[in-house]
Amino acid sequence: MCPDPSAEIRFDSPTTRDHSALRAMARRSFAETFAHLYAADDFERFLDQNYGPGGTMERDLNDPAVQWLSAFHESVPVGYAKLTPLRAPASHPLPGAVELQQIYVLQPWHGEGVADHLMQWALDRAAEQHAPEIYLTVFDHNERAKHFYRRHGFVEVGRCTFRLGDRVDDDRIWRRRATGD
Ligand SMILES: CC(C)(COP(=O)(O)OP(=O)(O)OC[C@H]1O[C@@H](n2cnc3c(N)ncnc32)[C@H](O)[C@@H]1OP(=O)(O)O)[C@@H](O)C(=O)NCCC(=O)NCCS
Repeated sequence: MCPDPSAEIRFDSPTTRDHSALRAMARRSFAETFAHLYAADDFERFLDQNYGPGGTMERDLNDPAVQWLSAFHESVPVGYAKLTPLRAPASHPLPGAVELQQIYVLQPWHGEGVADHLMQWALDRAAEQHAPEIYLTVFDHNERAKHFYRRHGFVEVGRCTFRLGDRVDDDRIWRRRATGD
């Protein structure tokens, strides 16, 4: 896919008829980013469990407590953000804290402002809900994502782990005030 930076991107909540394409896009983005780290069969199993039919993403797409914004190029999803009640094991979170549990953009649209728009939506939604703070978790070696989060005002506040197959990775918990620091 070769993007035209001026190509129009439409941002919208995904509807039921977008779910399958959105799961495929999420699977592709996760694989683009992390496949090189894992054994192929463990990785495929993880992708199926999370992005396949009946997996965790489908469950969250049907959960009214989970909010989504998708970026569409010519009606095809190229990115999304997912805002949930806090799920990460943060220490002493404030009541009502939320989590930007995923923000994923396909590689051709990196650096094009798509992720900035998705992030701003998540911050606006959190503020509208009077959430005091917004958390996320990030793989400690995901330098691009960490740079992006830092630019958006997040700071590291803790650690957690992420297990895929036999491998347990060191993830970091980051937070920022939802109303802006
Ligand atoms: C993380 C993500 C949403 C950020 O969106 P993006 O459009 O790529 O972000 P931007 O280009 O606006 O910002 C990335 C910054 O990291 C910098 N960067 C790129 N590669 C880098 C690297 N290897 N090390 C450090 N910084 C890096 C860029 O220069 C840019 O900084 P700048 O704005 O100061 O120039 C997107 O890259 C993505 O979807 N990645 C794959 C999925 C993923 O990792 N999601 C997050 C999981 S926690």
